[in-house]
Amino acid sequence: MLQPNPFIITADYYGPDYFCDRKAETEVLESNLANGCNTVLISSRRMGKSGLIAHVFNRFFVHSNFRTFSIDLFPTSSLAEMILLLAKEITGLLKSKGEKMMDSFLTIVKSLRPGFKLDPVTGQLVFDISLGEIVRPVDSLKEIFQYLESSEIPCIVAMDEFQQIADYPETHVMELLRTHVQKCKHTWFVFAGSNRRMMEKLFHNPSEPFYMSCSPLYLDAISYDHYLAFAQRHFEKAGKNLQKEGFKYVYDMFDGHTWYVQRLMNELFAWTRPGEMSDKTMAENALSFVIKTYARTFQEQMSAYPEAQKQLLIAIAKEGKAEQVTSVAFCKRHSMKSPSTVQSALRVLHEKGTITKEKTVYSITNRLFGMWLTMEY
Ligand SMILES: Nc1ncnc2c1ncn2[C@@H]1O[C@H](COP(=O)(O)OP(=O)(O)OP(=O)(O)O)[C@@H](O)[C@H]1O
Ligand SMILES: [Mg+2]
Repeated sequence: MLQPNPFIITADYYGPDYFCDRKAETEVLESNLANGCNTVLISSRRMGKSGLIAHVFNRFFVHSNFRTFSIDLFPTSSLAEMILLLAKEITGLLKSKGEKMMDSFLTIVKSLRPGFKLDPVTGQLVFDISLGEIVRPVDSLKEIFQYLESSEIPCIVAMDEFQQIADYPETHVMELLRTHVQKCKHTWFVFAGSNRRMMEKLFHNPSEPFYMSCSPLYLDAISYDHYLAFAQRHFEKAGKNLQKEGFKYVYDMFDGHTWYVQRLMNELFAWTRPGEMSDKTMAENALSFVIKTYARTFQEQMSAYPEAQKQLLIAIAKEGKAEQVTSVAFCKRHSMKSPSTVQSALRVLHEKGTITKEKTVYSITNRLFGMWLTMEY
């Protein structure tokens, strides 16, 4: 039988065997949930926030004591869309628990009743609401919270890409949510986000509704030793060998950034036949191959940028970690027109998430894109 590649590169969670380390973070999150402390989980993109949430939700302590719900707010742009996701997530779980649970949702969440329909084939009650049927989202939010609090088993709600709410056209959604969250007596929350600037503003700024309301948990790279042990264990299990230098090359190249390490190890695992050894040369070749795989996408992406943004991307990629990008020296070094040109290009690229800012340092968010830029220009 074909053995699945143990280095998962999709967002799905395949169980603890395929999940590397994060012991300390798991303990913190689990303890927060056990003690009724809401958590704000922050990391750069693709570091493993969603994975950690899924891992903790899968733990015996959590799934035997709580009902867990997860929504990703990234594709939402209004309170109604958020309600749609939340209601579907909740009713999806209720469906598996039977009619009685559905009935109590129907009784409490009155504003979403139009979403309950009788399946003409089975005659069973199904929840199939459309966005247009959510006409009183503020009431729906209140009722959903009432429902969660009425559950005899405490609930946990994870909201991924939470900072998205700040862009909703309705005013006061944050205040509204904060009021409901604050009133909860046995429903706990995990708010996750990758836009560090926004997340920190929302949770650490005294003028924001969620100020100091959650315990912060930052995700950094998994340590080299833990990752090496994890990778070697999976190679060995398949009768393959992973040379330390090969892994180190990959880990160092991406500073241990989870998705990129997973992507390269997935490739290396596929390239290595049982009985063979994956070494540094193979790792170098795998990296070139992976970058080439995305080259077409990167080319198209580049052709769509206006000249100033293109130049700035190349400049930041060449510096790797770029500082003082609006200085005259930076402009001169990279033949850019003026600090003001850099400033406006910087703002757009940062807003789009193409570049990341950590304190005063800028880098290309997609590390493979950054590498491709340095090779190509
Ligand atoms: N501890 C881990 N061990 C092994 N693989 C992991 C681990 N954490 C995450 N991954 C893998 O790394 C990739 C990125 O993880 P995940 O989607 O959880 O990151 P994220 O921070 O939520 O990303 P985004 O900012 O895009 O939402 C996924 O393919 C996931 O399977
Ligand atoms: Mg995620």
